[in-house]
Amino acid sequence: MAVHLAVEGHRRGLRTLLIDIDTQASAAKIMDRRGDDPPDVTTEAAGRLDKAIQAARTHGYDLVVIDTAPQADRAASQAAQLADLVIAPVQPSIVDLDAVDTTIDICKLAGVPVLFVLNRVPSKGKEAAGTEEVLRKRGMRVSTVRWGERKAFKYPFIKGLTAQEAEPESRAATEVSALFDEFRIPSATHVRRRAVLPAHRRPGVSA
Ligand SMILES: Nc1ncnc2c1ncn2[C@@H]1O[C@H](COP(=O)(O)OP(=O)(O)OP(=O)(O)O)[C@@H](O)[C@H]1O
Ligand SMILES: [Mg+2]
Repeated sequence: MAVHLAVEGHRRGLRTLLIDIDTQASAAKIMDRRGDDPPDVTTEAAGRLDKAIQAARTHGYDLVVIDTAPQADRAASQAAQLADLVIAPVQPSIVDLDAVDTTIDICKLAGVPVLFVLNRVPSKGKEAAGTEEVLRKRGMRVSTVRWGERKAFKYPFIKGLTAQEAEPESRAATEVSALFDEFRIPSATHVRRRAVLPAHRRPGVSA
């Protein structure tokens, strides 16, 4: 999900950096297959994340996507404290549901909003609805966009590509775009204008 969202940010014109803090570095390894093609990727120890984000800001990145390890541990908590939004993928399974309370606790402690996103949803079955209900009962925000179990989310990784690049007409591509839309990130032009215009030239600000 982190890889797909980082690529989506880049495709929408945002200067995007993916920071992988999972020691297994799966996301970084997928991105390495792209060669020098953007978005940029780096691995970082969770304890240095604040410095890495500061550096990203200095270097003019508009969007930083942090990929954490699957377990909700201290590293996840450090990332949550620095994030504007936590996106928590959850599969419609009892194993994933058992883990959500720790995610909720971490985000509450960090004071960061969390958006749960159902991933690997099978085309049939009621598990997804059950999972969503459990999350909503806990007062959690659940994305209306669900990502299905789809080959396009998996096989393009062999070439370092995402669903929206390898199969732009696929349902997977539509799901990526729809989820990104939910973040309501201002367009790149808007972000950059805000960053570069001197105060007296900003709309609504007089000299
Ligand atoms: N919606 C999906 N449809 C098909 N395959 C998926 C989907 N979501 C994830 N996968 C595949 O499952 C594998 C692991 O998924 P993912 O990277 O999301 O999990 P993870 O918990 O971050 O695992 P890791 O420990 O490898 O980082 C990947 O090969 C990925 O392509
Ligand atoms: Mg991972």
